[in-house]
Amino acid sequence: MENNKKIIFSGMQPSGTPTLGNYLGALKNWNIMQKDYRCLFSVVDLHALTVRREPKELRQASLSLMALYIALGLDPSENIIFYQSQVPQHTQLSWILNCYAYVGELNRMTQYKEKSAKHSENINSGLFTYPVLMASDILLYQTDCVPVGEDQRQHLEIARDIAIRFNNIYGETFKVPESYIGKAGARVMGLQDPEKKMSKSGDDAISILDDPKVIMNKVKRAVTDSDARVYYDPSNKPGISNMLNIYSAITGKSIEECSEEFAGAGYGDFKKAVGEVIINELEPVQKKYNELISNKDYLNSIAKEGAEKAQNLAFRTYNKVCKKIGLIQI
Ligand code: TYM
Repeated sequence: MENNKKIIFSGMQPSGTPTLGNYLGALKNWNIMQKDYRCLFSVVDLHALTVRREPKELRQASLSLMALYIALGLDPSENIIFYQSQVPQHTQLSWILNCYAYVGELNRMTQYKEKSAKHSENINSGLFTYPVLMASDILLYQTDCVPVGEDQRQHLEIARDIAIRFNNIYGETFKVPESYIGKAGARVMGLQDPEKKMSKSGDDAISILDDPKVIMNKVKRAVTDSDARVYYDPSNKPGISNMLNIYSAITGKSIEECSEEFAGAGYGDFKKAVGEVIINELEPVQKKYNELISNKDYLNSIAKEGAEKAQNLAFRTYNKVCKKIGLIQI
C-alpha cells in the first residue's frame, strides 16, 4: 500500500444478507473509492452481538459478508479486509474511550433509541456503548474518511467529538475523521413503506443476493401513488422518489436526468426499468459470490492476512494512547 494515500475505514455488520440500501449507501462507494485511498474494510462482528444471535448463523453471516466484500470487487491485495473480532485493539481502545464518552451524548443516539424500542427484552449495555466501539474502529487507524449511509451520520459525529475531546486533553493523538455520505444512495427507503429506511429486517428489502425474478417482483409490488406521473417529490411521492433515487445511484445519472428520462412513462414501464438496472448491477456480484462462498480456505486466508496487517496498524495507535493516559508499558 502506498503511504501518501489518505485512509478509509468502514464496516458492516454480519447480520443477514446486506440489502440494496447497504449496497448503495456504502458498498458501492467503497468499491469506487478503493482506488484512491488506503482502505480498511471490516466485517464488524462484535457490533452484531448487541442483538442475540445463533452462533452458527453469526459464523455463517460473517463468512458470507467476507465473500461478498470480495465478490463486489474489493481487492484483498490492495486493501485490508478483516474481521473486527480478530484485532483485539478494537475492544481494548473501546474500553478506554468509554471513559471519555458521556452517558448524555450516548443517550441521544437515534439508533440506540430505535433498537431499544425494537429489542425491549434485551436493552444491554453493548447496545448503549455501540457508538464508542465504532469510534474505536475508526480512530485506531488514523482514518481520514468514513464512507457510510446517512443513518450513520450521528455515530460519526460522536467519533469526531471523542477524538477532539481526547486530543484536547492529551495533545494530538487521533486524526479527526470526516464522513463520506454519497448523494443518491445515502438513504434507500423500503419498497412497501417508503417512509422508513430499507433495513435487513424489513420484509420489503431487496437483498443483494436475491434472484433476478424476486427482485423484479419486489420492485413491481413497490408502493406508489395515484398521480401516475414520474417525478421527484419525496414528501408527496415517496415511493416514486425512492425508486428515482435508486435508479440515479446505480446509473450515476442525476435525479433531474432520471426524471426527464421517465417524464412520459407510466409506472409499469418505470418500475421495469428500475428492476432491470438493479438486476444488471447485482448479477456479476452474485455470480462471483457463488464461486467464492464454497472456498472457505481462501476466505480464511484473506481474513488472516487482513487481521495481521490491521493489528500492526492498530497497535501503533493503541500504544500511543496507553502512553498518553499513563498506562505502564513493558
Ligand atoms: P450497518 O451494518 O447497519 O450498515 C452498513 C452500511 O450500510 C448503510 N446503510 C444504508 N445506506 C443507505 N440506505 C439504507 N437503507 C441503508 N441501510 C444501511 C449504513 O449507513 C452503513 O454505512 N454501525 C455500522 C457499522 C460500523 C461502522 C464502523 C461503519 C461499525 N463500525 C466504523 C463505519 C465505520 C452499522 O451498523 O452499519
